[in-house]
Amino acid sequence: MKNILIIGSNGQIGTDLLTKLREKYSDKQVIASDIRSPKLPDPYFVHLDATDAKAVRKVIKEYQIDEVYLMAAILSANAEKMPMKSWDINMQVLFNILELGKEGLIKKIFWPSSIAVFGPHTPRVNTPQYTVMDPNTVYGISKLAGERWIEYYKEHYQVDVRSARYPGIISWKTLPGGGTTDYAVEIFHEAIKKGRYTSFLAENTRLPMMYMPDAIEATINIMAADKRNLSVHSAYNIAGISFTPAELAKAIQVYLPSFEIDYAPDFRQAIAESWPESIDDTMAFKDWHWQHKYNLDEMVKDMLEHLSEQYHKKLDLAKI
Ligand code: SER
Repeated sequence: MKNILIIGSNGQIGTDLLTKLREKYSDKQVIASDIRSPKLPDPYFVHLDATDAKAVRKVIKEYQIDEVYLMAAILSANAEKMPMKSWDINMQVLFNILELGKEGLIKKIFWPSSIAVFGPHTPRVNTPQYTVMDPNTVYGISKLAGERWIEYYKEHYQVDVRSARYPGIISWKTLPGGGTTDYAVEIFHEAIKKGRYTSFLAENTRLPMMYMPDAIEATINIMAADKRNLSVHSAYNIAGISFTPAELAKAIQVYLPSFEIDYAPDFRQAIAESWPESIDDTMAFKDWHWQHKYNLDEMVKDMLEHLSEQYHKKLDLAKI
């Protein structure tokens, strides 16, 4: 019997992670927490401001938490609008948990890193695990610093922290909040609601992405892996599917032939251009057998099916 705490359980990844972990364990073993209230009442939800060290400690003690999934963060585009505040939040929430790990109150921690740790001088195609890292966004700087700190806490205080560099995550249950890769989620909502979408990234901007079920699987697998096999002590590269807005639009048109896209790049274009196009994840494959399952077409089909149901729209999804 172990008890798990998800911090940021109402966020894009937190929502799906909560469902999956509660399937795997039981509702009462997986405590949900967030600064915002959940949409539906949940007896195992606790209101938590993750920047409040005392409040975090209290929840960990009260529910006798063994494992923490720390999913609360300010994403790339939002962080650029409030640099100092975002840096403070992203680092403070991490230190609050690392310190409890150092005290031995928590046994295992998952903290997500991101492709945002890379920067303009990083090789963009098939970006290796170990390479130049010169992030130029507040979010990327906080993730890279976080990676260095988790490695430090492992080495000096034997804290068991595991991490993967998520690419852009695509899902239908909950919208992402203020990232650069958000276009790849918004496009589906707009395709179904309006039949058209204006992309804030230019048509040929290729970025690494991943469908949510793969991201959840990676998260759960890295937490379940035998610690002795984990040779990367910072965060693992994990890859899914790389595509451009134009390629995604084309993949949507297979099912919605009348869907239209145009492009109005904004400040997020520069962020996207500083990130890799594709990721080399052979270390994750070697150490914990990571392999993504969804390709572009399978992801698009699944997204359209779920979202058309969510919007109660009967779509003539040509190929489905
Ligand atoms: N999806 C994130 C963002 O765009 C990257 O980790 O900020």
